[in-house]
Parts: sequence; structure tokens; C-alpha cells
Amino acid sequence: MKAMQERKDILQVRDIHKDFSGLKVLTGVDFEVKENEKHAIIGPNGAGKTTLFNIISGKYKPSSGSIIFKGEDISGRSPHALTRMKICRSFQMTNVFKELNVFENVRAGVRCDHGLRYNFLKRPGSIPEVNEKTEEILALVGLADAGETPARELSYGQQRALEIAVTLSTEPELILLDEPTAGMTREETIEAIKMIDKVTANRTLVIIEHDMDVVFSLADTISVLHNGSILVSGRPEEIREDQRVKDAYLGEEAG
Ligand SMILES: Nc1ncnc2c1ncn2[C@@H]1O[C@H](COP(=O)(O)OP(=O)(O)OP(=O)(O)O)[C@@H](O)[C@H]1O
Ligand SMILES: [Mg+2]
Repeated sequence: MKAMQERKDILQVRDIHKDFSGLKVLTGVDFEVKENEKHAIIGPNGAGKTTLFNIISGKYKPSSGSIIFKGEDISGRSPHALTRMKICRSFQMTNVFKELNVFENVRAGVRCDHGLRYNFLKRPGSIPEVNEKTEEILALVGLADAGETPARELSYGQQRALEIAVTLSTEPELILLDEPTAGMTREETIEAIKMIDKVTANRTLVIIEHDMDVVFSLADTISVLHNGSILVSGRPEEIREDQRVKDAYLGEEAG
């Protein structure tokens, strides 16, 4: 019976519009993502992909339209409220404390998730399950040996891994990653994608990505954002064959 049930939509983006003082960036964006799906958003530079993430993650309010998460309209809620609802976005090192070491950075998020943030009676170092969870996440992202390293001393690839570790520290159900492999070498990219694939098992991922090899190897479904709206959504093979996508985007990548 269970196997026959359709997987549910965890995220529904409905007719999202966004203007910046007259500049119409998003003009009616619609797509949905099912539970445990890996969904990629692709599209030309300046198409509005990051703006869309800023709206889903609560950084910007949409000019109109709604974001539905697990059946609930979350449009316009604060990033903090969304973290509590288990939506988490990786913010390119802006949620990493450069002066703290790797372990301390991840532990801060784990403590927060354990609801210990305002408990001044217990010292963080004295809570075994928080430390265990932190170790587990560091191992998952390949930073087990870097716990003592100050965040500012990490290599580029390790910084990206730490961002993902911090993202995982609050046990998100929906993870948003904006170009996690930007600036990486081919080898770093391959390693990073393996890691992302592993850590997002049993979670839902929405990823913005320019590298088509990454997109086609990782994503279950893809939406193409073009001229302010979704040109087409579908499985990778459908997107690859779509003439509109080739004309609007893939053609220019290949050329
Ligand atoms: N806060 C803002 N204020 C004004 N304009 C903005 C703001 N944020 C984004 N824009 C504009 O919105 C458009 C889309 O930008 P956005 O960063 O969302 O594109 P993108 O698809 O993520 O591009 P890229 O692939 O280069 O990352 C651009 O014209 C950008 O200048
Ligand atoms: Mg962007």
C-alpha cells in the first residue's frame, strides 16, 4: 500500500513575483518539489535564481505569490522561523564564525537545534549528545580531522564543506544550496557532489547549479528559470531533450 502512495509535495512555489524598485526579476514562478527529491534550478546568469532562494529562505518577501512548505503558507516568514521549521539554506560562509574552530561552529548549530540556546546553566562542552552529534556531522562531510582548525584557516573546499555541516547542524528537512561547487576544481567538485548526495539522503534538496555535469548526475528533477518564470520542469532526460531549454540555456552552455 505504502509503495503505491504518491510521494507528497514538501515545497510548492506558487506564482512568485519579485520586483526591485520597478525591475521585474520574477514574474510568476511556479514549481513543486516532492519529499526526499533532489531538485535543481538552472538558468542563465541574472535569471533570478538567487532571488528565488532569498524568497524561499525568508531573506526577501515576495512582491506577490506564496511559498507552501508541508501544506503551510510560509511566505514572508523570517529566516530564523524557517530554520525552526526545518528549512535551511547554506549562506556562503556568512553563517560561519571565522574565529571559531570547525567543531565549535557546528556545535553552535547543534546546540541551537537541541533547544539549549538559552540554557546558561549547562556548559555546552558538558552535553555529550551535542558533542556526539557534532562529531557525526563532521565525519559525514569529511571534516572529522579538522575539528580543531579555525574556520578562517580552511581550504576553499573545506570551507564549503563546513557551510554544509553548519546547514546540517539544525537537522533540516529541506536544504537549499546556492552553487555549492562554485570556484572548485574538477576533483573538488566530484568529491563535493558525492558528499552532498550522501548528506541529503532522506532529506529534500533544492540546489542552484551551473555545472551541467553536476546537475544531470545529482538531480531527480530540474526546473529551468528563464525570463522571470519557469520555462519547464521535468526529469533530467526530459530537460536535456527539450528544444526550448536548448535554445534558452543549454545551447549557450555548449557553445
Ligand atoms: N537586492 C537587490 N536589489 C536590486 N536588484 C537585485 C537585488 N538582488 C538581485 N537583484 C537583481 O535581480 C536580478 C537577478 O539576480 P540574481 O542574483 O537572483 O540572479 P541569478 O540567477 O542568481 O544569477 P547568477 O547565475 O549570476 O548567480 C539581477 O538583475 C540582479 O541585479
Ligand atoms: Mg545567483
